[in-house]
Amino acid sequence: MESKHIISTLSDIASRCEFELTRLSDEPQIRALQASFLGAKGEIAQLQKLLREIPAEARKEVGAAFNGAKQRITEACAKAIEAKRGLEEERYLHSRLDPTLPGRAPTGVGHLHPLSIVMYDIVDVFVSMGFDVATGPEIETDYYNFAALNFPADHPARDMQDTLFVKEGETLLRTHTSPVQIRTMLRRPLPIQIVAPGAVYRRDDDATHSPMFVQIEGLLVDQGISFADLKGVLETFIHIVFGRDVKLRFRPSFFPFTEPSAEVDIQCISCKGDGCRLCSHTGWIEVLGSGMVDPNVLEGVGVDAERYTGFAFGVGVDRIAMLRYEGISSIRLFYENDPRFLSCFRR
Ligand code: PHE
Repeated sequence: MESKHIISTLSDIASRCEFELTRLSDEPQIRALQASFLGAKGEIAQLQKLLREIPAEARKEVGAAFNGAKQRITEACAKAIEAKRGLEEERYLHSRLDPTLPGRAPTGVGHLHPLSIVMYDIVDVFVSMGFDVATGPEIETDYYNFAALNFPADHPARDMQDTLFVKEGETLLRTHTSPVQIRTMLRRPLPIQIVAPGAVYRRDDDATHSPMFVQIEGLLVDQGISFADLKGVLETFIHIVFGRDVKLRFRPSFFPFTEPSAEVDIQCISCKGDGCRLCSHTGWIEVLGSGMVDPNVLEGVGVDAERYTGFAFGVGVDRIAMLRYEGISSIRLFYENDPRFLSCFRR
């Protein structure tokens, strides 16, 4: 082969290598290509065997062409490797770490249910006034839920229409938290000062009633307790929860287990007493039932009603929550557990 031909072939080989490099995507492939061009069995090595046949005067020029081609290939491969590394680094930075992006808020982190938030807040208010926390079962017997609370045998609450029975004549879902009064008086020594939060059940279902809802029962029994104590405790509670300015009223009422009894209304916080949909145009909203514990109830659990008196109350937690978070259209929202609704109460 003529030396001119060898020189142009070497240049072609280097160009082919440069072209093939443009199609390779990673470093091991580039290194393999480099080895195939420059290795002992590569095209350049084959050509080098012809060097012996080249006349001595041309060898210098042809030798320089060999070195030039090898250098072009080595440099092109090195450059390609460097470029791929730079690209990878850039890709890495883009895929994993872009410090210019705004932070992402963590999702799926749990938080308290709005009714739990309100329930704990109410319990805290009473605990700060010296009340202890007591609990009782949600499945009750007629004795604790009705009989011991002075409900007459033919009271309508005992009807299938109003109460959810687990086993008729035996067990039922408690219709209020008042059975915890009985359980506590049978178990604890006097004086007693407790609040009992928990779920209760009734055959009710509309925008303001759910078949399950939450109450907080209160009971204070000691010597010398009067209706003035009941008023003082409940007024303090309402003022802490709804603010000092809110007006409240004690409205005479009836419960079989308290005498006298009163329901407590607060002035509608939406219309301030003018009358609106929230308060059924009365200007007032009922938030709890209360009264002095009926002597029949005290005697029934072995408490001397001549020496001891007490008061009790039952707060509707759902009602308080609907007032505190204005704009909740239905009590059922609290029980459907739609995460879009619940996430509004994260804190
Ligand atoms: N248990 C009554 C109710 O559910 C509320 C109440 C409790 C009333 C304690 C008086 C005393 O309606």
